Amino acid sequence: MNKILVTSALPYANGPLHLGHIAGAYLPADIYVRYQRLKNRDVLYICGSDEHGVPITVSADKEGVTPQDIVDRYHAMNKAAFAQFGISFDNYSRTSLKVHHETAQEFFQIFHQNEDLIVKSDTQFYSEKTKQFLPDRYVEGTCPHCQYDKARGDQCDQCGKWLEPKELINPTSKLDGSTPVLKKTKHWYLPMGRFAEDWKVWFDSQSWKENVRNYCLGWFQEGLGDRPITRDLKWGIPVPLEGVEGKVLYVWFDAPIGYISSTKEWAEQKGSPDLWKDYWCDTDTKLVHFIGKDNIVFHAILFPMMLKRAGGYVLPSAIPANEYLTIEGRKISTSQNYAIWLKDYLESFPPDPLRYSLAANAPETKDTDFSWKQFQSRNNDELADILGNLVNRTLTFIHRYFDGKIPPQNALSTLDKEMLKVLMDAPSKVGALIESFEVRKASMTLMDVCRAANKYFNNAEPWATRKSDADRCATTLNICAQTLKTLAVLMAPTLPFSSVKLQKMLNIDMLPSWDDASNENLPEGHPIGEAEILFAKIEDDVIEKEIEKLKTIDSEDNSPKKPPEKKEPAQIDFDLFGQIELKTAKVLEAEAIPKTDKLLKLQIDVGGEKRQLVAGIAQYYSPEQIIGKTVVIVANLKPAKIRGVESNGMVLAVKSENGLNLLTPDGEVDSGLRVS
Ligand code: 2FM
Ligand code: ZN
Repeated sequence: MNKILVTSALPYANGPLHLGHIAGAYLPADIYVRYQRLKNRDVLYICGSDEHGVPITVSADKEGVTPQDIVDRYHAMNKAAFAQFGISFDNYSRTSLKVHHETAQEFFQIFHQNEDLIVKSDTQFYSEKTKQFLPDRYVEGTCPHCQYDKARGDQCDQCGKWLEPKELINPTSKLDGSTPVLKKTKHWYLPMGRFAEDWKVWFDSQSWKENVRNYCLGWFQEGLGDRPITRDLKWGIPVPLEGVEGKVLYVWFDAPIGYISSTKEWAEQKGSPDLWKDYWCDTDTKLVHFIGKDNIVFHAILFPMMLKRAGGYVLPSAIPANEYLTIEGRKISTSQNYAIWLKDYLESFPPDPLRYSLAANAPETKDTDFSWKQFQSRNNDELADILGNLVNRTLTFIHRYFDGKIPPQNALSTLDKEMLKVLMDAPSKVGALIESFEVRKASMTLMDVCRAANKYFNNAEPWATRKSDADRCATTLNICAQTLKTLAVLMAPTLPFSSVKLQKMLNIDMLPSWDDASNENLPEGHPIGEAEILFAKIEDDVIEKEIEKLKTIDSEDNSPKKPPEKKEPAQIDFDLFGQIELKTAKVLEAEAIPKTDKLLKLQIDVGGEKRQLVAGIAQYYSPEQIIGKTVVIVANLKPAKIRGVESNGMVLAVKSENGLNLLTPDGEVDSGLRVS
């Protein structure tokens, strides 16, 4: 049997992981790998932190710490989050390790010696202010292909094109906002055009996912030019040539080699240092790269070209490149802190509901949206009410009426036979979908088996046959228990933690293999364990809080990496102050706005004019406490909709450590009076 070598894109160790990362390159890979292990295949799952490149140095510059500080912090954080979420890498390495530096340098040396590199002196962007070259993300500007005005020097996030900083329109230095100047510097280039025909023959001989195929053909047609694979940076893997100082390998040259060095580290730890070659240097290995769509060019063109030129390496057979995940209809933005961070999720919820929710909604062929409401519904209406209910009703029944032991399977009815057929077919159906990287359909098919089993339970009516036909009742519960055992296997790739819980409830030490999921029956008389709740329901208020958290993030930069700058307010003249109309107003009515915990809707009187206004004071004032009060409002604020409720003005208040106090006039005054 072929070996299967699975990689997930090495995440940059410059920030925490969010749901977009997980949905794209990690969860689909983990489901695939766990499935292959249950098929008893020789599969190896490799990943690690990408610790070089401008993404790291930009983060370090921002925080005023060293790149080493950044990668140490986020490598540890991300490794722990992956483990807690059940991403079951065989090795999670880091590209700052010696084994990786040496491996990447060896690749460079091979190309250099084979004269597969071109040395050119050309101009690059340079900052006169900070006296340094500005490679890759140190420059931002407008994309020449799609006109996106926040394209980065290495890549455009909107159209996904791989760029060189000099291609940007209106380039700006990210370090100091200045317009960079051009300065001559020497670099080593990979002449990709020279290898393009050879690459194309290989590419055409493979079957690719549509997005990978289209993207690569577009590149090929545009022409693959010379690409610099070195940079003027201090952080990175030094160019391994005598007399060359201050130059490092381009991060996209070294990062994919990280898959090889991570495998070498794994082999070393196994005590068999050459074992990595069994995977990388055997043409029978099936190499599968799980990535997000922004990484296609590097995995489908650059890395295979490098592997081919270096010689003796297996090339990828599949590149399941996923599209993007949006959150509540909005693009994830790490710089604006608009994301759901994996570690935050894990502080509030168990891993499996998110694994299932993301799998059932995986962005396989188009961008998909994650919403907290949909997550809640996947958990409550599917995991708890369908799968959890099946487990609970079956095990409770066996405990109550069969002394906690698997009852016998007697003569089979048509209904029984139909259910057994569903079970017999399920492993190959779900398996085929996982094999073809369709985890959405695989998750739905799994849930359909649970639905069929609940229907079977209902139609077989064991609560009635218990009195009328004991043999029938026993058979029904036997088949339900066999269903749970099959499900414990089929759910293991997507819901590994719940599968372990179910195994414990069924009192089985080891799962059968995938192929035997429906064959190896629980024997008659087998004692089962205690029934537990498999999936707890998630209440509305818990979900509302999560939604609220996202709503508080507006377009300003709330990045945790960058403490907000405290600016002294500018002085204003009297005229400007005069334009702000502060008035007294009397509160006539007040009521809480449903599904928010901060907002009150007020009806106020402003000198005979009635108005509606929304105030964020519900945590400090109840409606009863505020009705009848005279408050001060900004009367000429433009009307706005807050949570869909129209608000005309703003109530003034003082917030302090002791809470919040409304500004009220000292003594009785009419409403509608100007405050000055
Ligand atoms: O886009 C990224 O986050 C990169 N760090 C992915 C690297 S994948 C591989 F080649 F290492
Ligand atoms: Zn673009």
